[in-house]
Amino acid sequence: MLTAGAQQVMSPNGNVQVNFTIDQGGRPTYEVLYKGKKVINPSHMGFELARDKHASKGMGETDLLDGFAVTGSTVTSHDETWTPVWGQYKSIRDNYNELAINLYQARANRRMTIRFRAYDDGMGFRYEFPLQKDLNYFIIKEEKSEFAMTGNHRAWWQAGDYDTQEYPMQVTRLSDIRSRITACARWDDPKGVGIRRTDYTEDRMRDAVVWDNASQTVFSPTGVQTSIQLKTDDGIYLNLHEAALVDYSTMHLELDENSMVFTSWLTPDATGYKGCMQTPCQTPWRTVLVSDDARDMLASSLILNFNEPCKIEDTSWIHPTKYCGVWWEMIVGNGAWNYTDEFPSVKLGMTDYSKAKPNGRHRANTQEVKRYIDFAAKNGLDQVLVEGWNIGWEDWANMWKADVFDFVTPYPDFDIKYLNDYAHSKGVKLLMHHETSSSVTNYERHLEKAYQLMNDYGYDAVKSGYVGDIIPRGDHHYSQAMNNHYLYVLKEAAKHHIMVNAHEATRPTGLCRTWPNLVGNESARGTEYEAFYGSNPNHTVILPFTRFQGGPMDFTPGVLETRLSNWSENQHIVHSTVVGQLALYVVMCSPLQMAADLPQNYEKFDDAFQFIRDVAVDWDDSRYIDAEPGEYITVARKAKGTDNWFVGGKCNENGHKVDLKLDFLDKGRKYECIIYADDKAAHYETNPAAYTITKKTVKQGDVLKLAGAPGGGFAISLKAM
Ligand code: NOJ
Ligand code: CA
Repeated sequence: MLTAGAQQVMSPNGNVQVNFTIDQGGRPTYEVLYKGKKVINPSHMGFELARDKHASKGMGETDLLDGFAVTGSTVTSHDETWTPVWGQYKSIRDNYNELAINLYQARANRRMTIRFRAYDDGMGFRYEFPLQKDLNYFIIKEEKSEFAMTGNHRAWWQAGDYDTQEYPMQVTRLSDIRSRITACARWDDPKGVGIRRTDYTEDRMRDAVVWDNASQTVFSPTGVQTSIQLKTDDGIYLNLHEAALVDYSTMHLELDENSMVFTSWLTPDATGYKGCMQTPCQTPWRTVLVSDDARDMLASSLILNFNEPCKIEDTSWIHPTKYCGVWWEMIVGNGAWNYTDEFPSVKLGMTDYSKAKPNGRHRANTQEVKRYIDFAAKNGLDQVLVEGWNIGWEDWANMWKADVFDFVTPYPDFDIKYLNDYAHSKGVKLLMHHETSSSVTNYERHLEKAYQLMNDYGYDAVKSGYVGDIIPRGDHHYSQAMNNHYLYVLKEAAKHHIMVNAHEATRPTGLCRTWPNLVGNESARGTEYEAFYGSNPNHTVILPFTRFQGGPMDFTPGVLETRLSNWSENQHIVHSTVVGQLALYVVMCSPLQMAADLPQNYEKFDDAFQFIRDVAVDWDDSRYIDAEPGEYITVARKAKGTDNWFVGGKCNENGHKVDLKLDFLDKGRKYECIIYADDKAAHYETNPAAYTITKKTVKQGDVLKLAGAPGGGFAISLKAM
């Protein structure tokens, strides 16, 4: 592709090469090579702009697509090692070469810089708009960043949507995306999506690409979300995502199957526009991970490296947290968030709950919460989440009602002072819950008082949620305004020393480096769906390649009673063996981990529960032993500040065998090793609770022969003696 004026930047070890040029029409164009082979074909870059209502010249729609000339460029290098507050490594090297190209579009007198960074495991670029007379306030109609694929790759993806990312992960060739999405989404009718087509019997519902969700807007039959994992026929792994998503809308990718070119597709707000910009400003980074070893996709810190350093000066109050909660019993259907069934609707400040008849199903009551506190204290869990503690749940979901919750008034049967005092006396904390029902203006109005209440009672972590369509009405979960909301909440929380775990918020893009009080997000299909038809076993070995690229997930593993009918009316199963559930604590890296099952179920599986009691949630090192997207992942992690290791292996429905060489252990040292293994006869559907627990002493170089059953895995703790 290289023409006159072409420039290139190589990664420090030379594996990744980015070429840039301006084509004959003045269009900025880049391509990416890995070990000398093209992995991103020549791809155009730029923007369509909406008619600028501030423009003095009365211009119509314009663009930043072509007519550019290069006015200058700079090449720099960077090599720094930084220390994350938590995560999969003790320290992270940020080493890249950078090429910044200054562009000038003469016909509109506009300037723009495109900055590329080449890393050994990938690359990224972003657009920067310096302050200038003729590009000051402007509106993005669409960003047109292309990622031209070199073939019809295998892809691990989920359907693009402006409001949800809780769909099942898919594995197809790129050319099959259209048929999969059109099979179950009314993409041409934005409010009619999520139609479950009759070709999915109840039994195979979990194969459907698009499901009903409280808020959803599929926008195209060939639109997908990021991060998307790809593999070429010659064994190159690619992963497309974005980093440092600040003051901008979330990016999807739209595929043209004829050319196999992905083009960025931003999330609009209620106006239909996709970004309101004021110079000086910049876009998030558009990122490409690349390697011929799948393990590098998981070991990479590329997305974190593209984010700004930590902005919280004193981070001593941010800590890894293992928690249980008054939660799974409601999700499964054995209890309720609401206190009463008496009122067809409720109004804050008017409804008198003191006179209401309790429905007897409200689980966030003092006695039940106490039971969980005792359970947490006995088993070394740090916190207890309590959902449904505050008034308003009677008509909370999707009523487009603005004043749903006030986040400070408990139900009459939840003694907030007593329970916090009791928890603290036992060395446990309560974990706050703020379901916003997506009424974000209401939440922002109440935020300060809500956080103050948390400070008053000694809560230091909040799980928030954004179920239902956004209010202000018409906006989407991943718009620029909503992304600004999530960040605003995070910054306010930091002032109050509060850690945040936001559900249904936009997918993470590494902002947890800058704001490490963002200890979790949901932003994908978590364990809760196992109570509503479920997810296929390969789901949990795709998520670490995709959703986890941007940051930790509150996946809520640890359901050991996988047959829900054993304790409830719910007929569904968790699509995993018991040991498979244990493995997730290591395979899914997160400083916030839930033990999601009920205390009485853990009592039944107390020997297996020992692994959940023991496992660390923060790490000094991580070694990926083997990995293939959608098939298996085996990882060994060294627990923070100790010499102990934990190993997790998870596999899909086909099972997986590993000869695990313990070469990561310290030389000359002995370790007490406990192996939690699927029994030979184990199977996630027919025999999930068949497992063995073996104890032995091991040393560096020993080999453990391990076999994960269909939908299972293995979990190992290694304690230095
Ligand atoms: C959806 C969340 O994912 C779930 O964890 C929570 O219990 C409900 N919303 C209610 O807030
Ligand atoms: Ca959810």
